[in-house]
Amino acid sequence: MSKKIVLLPGDGIGAEVIYAAKEVLEAISQKYHKVFEFSSYDIGGIAIDNHATPLPDETVEACKSADAVLLGAVGGPKWDNNPSDLRPERGLLGIRKALDLYANLRPVKGFKNLLHASPLKEEIIQGSDLLIVRELTGGLYFGRPSERLDDGNAVVDTLAYTRKEMERIIDKAFQSAELRNNHLTSVDKANVLESSKLWREIVEEKKAEYPNVTVDHVLVDAAAMKLITNPTQFDVIVTENMFGDILSDEASVLTGSLGMLPSASLAEDGVGLYEPAHGSAPDIAGKGIANPIAMILSAAMMLRYSFDMNEEAQAIEDAVEKVLNQNYHTADLKNDNNGKLVNTTEMTQLIVDAIQ
Ligand code: NAI
Ligand code: MG
Repeated sequence: MSKKIVLLPGDGIGAEVIYAAKEVLEAISQKYHKVFEFSSYDIGGIAIDNHATPLPDETVEACKSADAVLLGAVGGPKWDNNPSDLRPERGLLGIRKALDLYANLRPVKGFKNLLHASPLKEEIIQGSDLLIVRELTGGLYFGRPSERLDDGNAVVDTLAYTRKEMERIIDKAFQSAELRNNHLTSVDKANVLESSKLWREIVEEKKAEYPNVTVDHVLVDAAAMKLITNPTQFDVIVTENMFGDILSDEASVLTGSLGMLPSASLAEDGVGLYEPAHGSAPDIAGKGIANPIAMILSAAMMLRYSFDMNEEAQAIEDAVEKVLNQNYHTADLKNDNNGKLVNTTEMTQLIVDAIQ
């Protein structure tokens, strides 16, 4: 049966890396006799230019009727001074909300041949392999009011959550821990924030439902420190939206580059969206040198989570590992090991060849 995949290239390197993911999926389709139907829609800055809104209705409708969505990235300096409802990020937040993508899964795994690519010491990152489960549709990025007050001389942002919103992401994290190593670290700021106090209570309540899972609570500031001083102590980390946003960028340092980090954004019962953790990288956009691996690994997550194609997902992950082990690297990955520098198209072709 054919799978309908909506591509949302977005802005900057988004379009460059989404093309790479499509090439890889076409290789999978040939090798494993799967039928993927692709269609492409605007989101973010390009949607503002073409439709005067960062999230056109037709984009939302196409995503809702798709089997899965692949998103590149949105944003860029061209739209930085736009009023807030005409900002590319609104498109991204809007589609997350429209599809109720409450669970963002970000696996962070240090590839063996990239240990030297990280600015951290090899002995610190060796063996690090963790999953950040980030709440994606609540908290500070969605809370209202969020506005300037007092003629612009005061501001308010709102960190709001319901118990139900917290419960479903915490359940997802416990379930993810059961599928891995039964170890969950809940990250909060329960010494200060009321929202974190409720969060911690719910985690404690839920422990009874998942008796095999060991739970730690770590405050977010300490977690930020431990993530880069002792990352192997973590397996599954669960946290609210903004903490997860910050910690997952930090965790990318373990992998050598933001260009290596995929993600899956899942609904309770609906279409999933897959995107790299990085943004549109305006500093390198158009140069053809972006690292496509985060996007390609996101496509592998799509095969696994949305289509239950585990063998095919593994084939992509193995191909990436093989190419990295052959010492190929894009410009963002430091390599002082006689590495072979390649651009986006070349890296993609190497991965395609490794699949075939
Ligand atoms: P960024 O992730 O776009 O870039 C940060 C740094 O990492 C840059 O030096 C960039 O060149 C590098 N980088 C990122 N991805 C790379 C890749 N695949 N290959 C090689 N190098 C890579 O974050 P930044 O610069 O803070 O934001 C740029 C724009 O992207 C902004 O407009 C921001 O709002 C937007 N953004 C969008 C996101 C999304 O669509 N999910 C997420 C984060 C930022
Ligand atoms: Mg971010």
